[in-house]
Amino acid sequence: MFKSNLCMGALVWGMCSLLVMPLSPAFGENSQDTFHLSPKVVADFIHSVIQADRTLYTTHIVERLEGHKVVTAQEYWKQQKALPLPAQMLMLSGLQVKQEGTGLQFRLASLYPIYEKNGPTTDFEKVGLEAVAKDPSQPYTGVIQRGDRNFFKAIYADKAVSPACVNCHNGHILSSKHDYQLGDVMGGIVISFPLN
Ligand code: HEC
Repeated sequence: MFKSNLCMGALVWGMCSLLVMPLSPAFGENSQDTFHLSPKVVADFIHSVIQADRTLYTTHIVERLEGHKVVTAQEYWKQQKALPLPAQMLMLSGLQVKQEGTGLQFRLASLYPIYEKNGPTTDFEKVGLEAVAKDPSQPYTGVIQRGDRNFFKAIYADKAVSPACVNCHNGHILSSKHDYQLGDVMGGIVISFPLN
């Protein structure tokens, strides 16, 4: 009993110091210099926000309003009284963020895109999209150079999580692949941000 309490105490203390240690420099004078997160962790955070927004937009807005026969999501949403597709919302959000000029960029890409602009634009992207297609469990990451700045870049697998993904892409006249199946990797979410 005493032993297990001791163990619990040690465990809790360990967890607390883990939590406090990386945070405490943030309150110091040179917080900006001493507070570090690995770029991979930052990319994971950004990816989780992008995915949450896309999932909730799909379920809480598109699917719910389509279910109530209020409005549908259509590719040509501007010309029709319709909602943008979730993929379009993600791209629009990426453009908006790019325009803010912080250096953060993100978009959807694929080796078999509907639109050429969504294909790989560099060797890094091509190799990365191939890598996540083989092993979707891990993002493909690396450091790239743009001008005189270094950027961390991460590509996360984008899987056909619902029949709607498969049906729409397979049936799209401009799609370069028409035999997607449920669960296939359809492409990736490409995220990059400056390291300095
Ligand atoms: C109703 C049609 C439709 C559905 C459903 C749909 N997409 Fe797409 N998707 C598109 C269109 C159109 C684009 C191109 C958007 C653009 O660039 O403006 C696109 C773009 C993409 C891209 C970028 C590469 C490309 O093909 O241009 C990926 C990756 C992608 N979608 C994955 C998915 C996944 C995963 C799902 C399901 C969660 C899904 N899509 C559901 C129509 C659809």
